[in-house]
Amino acid sequence: MQKVAIIYDSKTGTTAKAAEYVSKGIKEICEVRTFSLADVDTDYVKTCDGVILGSPTYFASLTANMKTWMETEAPKLGLAGKLGGAYVTEQYIHGGAENAIQIMLTHEMVLGMMVYSGGGSHGTPVIHIGPVGMSQNIEDFRDLFVAYGKRFAMQVMSIAGKDN
Ligand SMILES: Cc1cc2nc3c(=O)[nH]c(=O)nc-3n(C[C@H](O)[C@H](O)[C@H](O)COP(=O)(O)O)c2cc1C
Repeated sequence: MQKVAIIYDSKTGTTAKAAEYVSKGIKEICEVRTFSLADVDTDYVKTCDGVILGSPTYFASLTANMKTWMETEAPKLGLAGKLGGAYVTEQYIHGGAENAIQIMLTHEMVLGMMVYSGGGSHGTPVIHIGPVGMSQNIEDFRDLFVAYGKRFAMQVMSIAGKDN
């Protein structure tokens, strides 16, 4: 069975909650485990077909913790060739969420990953470069994150040449 890991940073729980939602969508199709930055099971991640990174938006960017993890730990995980995705949470509608997603996707490309938005031909819910949820009412973004997880898992299966 294909495997996916969701690795997130979260100080007040919003981005962790979003990881739960994404995993619900993936679970319909692939094996999935979620990890906070502090408890990543590196052996599991190395065997994964896809890895999704999640971060709160800090100063219109990703968190320093996630950036440090990407620079120091991610290169040890053999991520080249795996499917990569990214999602964020934010407090303000123009708070810089897409910038944070782009930085994570760019870093994934530097590591040799194939990046996936979860959008395009799938239609609604519309996703452009990755899903974004607001911290005030993260529950309202549940369906968006579940749909993203399902689309990501379908892409993993498609790359593996398997029907789902
Ligand atoms: C230091 C700091 C900087 C932040 N900067 C932004 C920001 O630039 N834009 C924004 O929309 N939200 C900003 N936020 C709000 C968080 O992105 C938002 O509350 C997020 O959902 C928190 O995620 P968490 O509950 O997983 O920690 C900031 C929060 C903190 C603590």
